[in-house]
Amino acid sequence: MATTPAFVGQTGGRFAQVAAARLLSRSGRRAAPCAGNRGYVAPAFHAPAAARARPRRQPGARLVYSRTPTMGLEKVKLGSSDLEVTQVCLGTMTFGIQNSEEEAHAQLDYAILERGVNFIDTAELYPVPSSDPAWFPGATEEILGRWLAKATAADPGLRSRLVIATKMSGYIGSTTIPGYRSDPPVKEKMPARLDAASVKAAVEASLRRLGVDTIDLFQLHWPDRYVPIFGSTVYSPSSERPDSVPIAETLKAIKDVMDLGKVRHYGLSNETSYGLCQAVAAADALGMVRPATIQNSFSLIHRSFEAELAEVASHSKVSLLPWSPLAGGSLSGKYLDEADAPAEEVSSWRYKRFPQFQSRYVSKDSLAAVAAYKEIAKEAGMPVATLALAWCRSRWYVGSTIIGATKMGQLKENIDAFDEDLTPSLSKEVLAKIDAVHLRQKDPATV
Ligand SMILES: NC(=O)c1ccc[n+]([C@@H]2O[C@H](COP(=O)([O-])OP(=O)(O)OC[C@H]3O[C@@H](n4cnc5c(N)ncnc54)[C@H](OP(=O)(O)O)[C@@H]3O)[C@@H](O)[C@H]2O)c1
Repeated sequence: MATTPAFVGQTGGRFAQVAAARLLSRSGRRAAPCAGNRGYVAPAFHAPAAARARPRRQPGARLVYSRTPTMGLEKVKLGSSDLEVTQVCLGTMTFGIQNSEEEAHAQLDYAILERGVNFIDTAELYPVPSSDPAWFPGATEEILGRWLAKATAADPGLRSRLVIATKMSGYIGSTTIPGYRSDPPVKEKMPARLDAASVKAAVEASLRRLGVDTIDLFQLHWPDRYVPIFGSTVYSPSSERPDSVPIAETLKAIKDVMDLGKVRHYGLSNETSYGLCQAVAAADALGMVRPATIQNSFSLIHRSFEAELAEVASHSKVSLLPWSPLAGGSLSGKYLDEADAPAEEVSSWRYKRFPQFQSRYVSKDSLAAVAAYKEIAKEAGMPVATLALAWCRSRWYVGSTIIGATKMGQLKENIDAFDEDLTPSLSKEVLAKIDAVHLRQKDPATV
């Protein structure tokens, strides 16, 4: 299926036009979606550089490349698992509030069927924000499930080429999420916990809503124990909850559902170095596989992962899945130039429509750093969104970067950043300029 030029010009500029022209010129060599990826046996996790097909990462790289790109998107193995995914993952948390079902299905058609992205991330919590009157838990999984039903009816082999990731919610004192695991839902508020019964109920509910027999990657959205996350950065022992569910209980329940074939691999999210070490130790003690992934906030304006967590991830063979790699759209630079955009369009942007949500990404300090990265992008001849995503792709500990979009032009621009033919790897000079800004304006989005 050829890629249409429908999005050319929406992202604007010479870079986008050259990229689109290159993509179109390559369409002749495309086979059916994902053809050519089957049967390849990837080298071991710590394969020597010579064993990799297109080594581009920095020294110390530990992720493994597939030899066969999917329509220009290279694939990596996640952690020590056998999950082989494109370096770009389609995030879905706008499906159901910011995006209608029709728009969501159009995004899936484009990303998965036309561009060969094979990795989709969702959650029982989605869509966001949960404060929106239209919100109910599981709505996004249902939208995705209806698309999977359509797409796999048209192409029965598609399911086996996809890696579908979902997440169960961690601790919440009072929420309707657990009640929505029942069918029909019980719309009462109750605590959300990571105890064994909750894990099993959440897995069954996600399987039902997605309409699949197995979840490829089942993630714990955040821990049961107290952790400083979502903009809170200072650990306070007085906030600990003495009754938090031990990670060993949660993992034993995951082992049980894995033994039944309902889950293939599992991952953590919004975790700390301490939590990842505890999970790895518990998994080893239980004689089960270790987590394959950790899904944390990570972008040019939130790089805290790259110190201690990167060390733990390396030793534990766990891949990072960055979330909000554009800081929710801030790193597109559009909040710097909002006077230039039509008022109606501006009012649809996430932080205009939901000013309380993730406001740290558009704080004065965050936007000052974005302005500095925008200058670097300009000198490099690319949009700052492309620079931000290509930078995530360049990090050795990143498995696949979870992108998000509300418009098709955004989706195209973001996927292009993971195609080496369209977005060459960032040069050493560009990477050095990025690090210089980071040293001056370190992690403004953590506060
Ligand atoms: N584990 C977790 O706790 C967690 C938390 C957050 C997200 N996630 C996952 O990560 C995924 C991605 O997160 P995210 O949506 O925050 O990612 P993001 O890439 O940081 O932000 C995406 C948003 O930025 C805007 N945007 C995207 N591309 C753009 C472009 N090229 N130009 C201008 N604006 C652009 C769009 O919003 P507007 O059009 O509204 O401006 C879009 O919805 C989610 O869907 C979810 O799967 C996980």
